[in-house]
Amino acid sequence: MKGIILAGGLGSRLFPVTKVTNKHLLPVYDQPMIFYPIQAFVEAGIRDILIVTGGNSAGDFLELLGNGNEFGLNHLNYTYQSGHGGIAEALGLARHFADDDKVCVVLGDNIFHDSLRAAVDNSEKQEKGARIMLKEVADPRRFGVAELRGGRVVNIEEKPSRPKSNLVVTGIYFYDSQAFDIIDTLKPSARNELEVTDLNNRFIEMGQMEYEIMDGWWSDAGTFESLRHVTNLVAEDPPVWVPKKD
Ligand code: DAU
Repeated sequence: MKGIILAGGLGSRLFPVTKVTNKHLLPVYDQPMIFYPIQAFVEAGIRDILIVTGGNSAGDFLELLGNGNEFGLNHLNYTYQSGHGGIAEALGLARHFADDDKVCVVLGDNIFHDSLRAAVDNSEKQEKGARIMLKEVADPRRFGVAELRGGRVVNIEEKPSRPKSNLVVTGIYFYDSQAFDIIDTLKPSARNELEVTDLNNRFIEMGQMEYEIMDGWWSDAGTFESLRHVTNLVAEDPPVWVPKKD
C-alpha cells in the first residue's frame, strides 16, 4: 500500500496566518503539521509516500523534509497542485504514483491518536473498493457526515446544516485504483471543488464502501479553534506513532 498526503489548498480559514505560508508548515505543538501524517504512515509500515502540495511556499516542503531521512525514509515523492480545485482534484494528481496499487490518503490537517496499522491491514484484506474512518463528534456540521443503515454507510453529506448523525468522515481514506477513474467523472461542487464526498458516495452507490469507527482522539487543524484544540491534544496525549524524544 502507498501513502498520499494532501497538503495543498489555501488554508483560508487560517488567514492571515496562511497568507504567506502553507497551513501544513504551521506548528502543531513541537512539530510542523506535515510531520504528523508522515510519522503515522511510517509507523503503519507505509514507506512509499507522496506529498501533494501547492501555492507559493511549495518549495519549503522540499527544504523542510528533503528525502525524509529524519523519518527513516530514503525517498519522498512530491507533486504540485496548481490552484485549489479540491481534495479529489489533489488526489487525482497521484494517479501515476499509485500505479494500480491500493492507497491510503491522509488530509494533511488531520491528526489522530491511534496507529493506522489495523485499518491498513483491513484495507489490504478488502477485495475491492474504498474504506473510510468515522468518528463521533459533538458538532458534525463542518464535516462530511455519514448516514448508517443496517451496518452500512448509505450516504455522506458534506457540511449539512441538519446532520443525520454525529459520525463524521475523517480525512483518512483507503482506495483501490477505481478512485482515479471516478475522479475523472466528477463535476465541481457549489464551492467549485472536486469533492472527496462525491468520490466516496460513488463507492457507496457501487456497494464497495467499508468503514470503521476510530477509537482514539481525532481532530482537524483547519480553523484557529481546532488548531488550538489539536495542539493541546498532542501535548497532553501524544499520538502513539510520534517518535519519543530523548
Ligand atoms: O477533516 C475532515 C473533513 O475534510 C471531511 O469531513 C470532509 O468531508 C472533507 O471535505 C474535508 O473538509 P474541509 O472542508 O475541512 O477540507 P479542507 O478544504 O480544509 O481541506 C482539507 C485538506 O485537504 C487540506 O488540509 C489540504 C487538502 N487539500 C484541500 C483542497 C481544497 C488539498 O490538498 N487541495 C485542495 O484543493
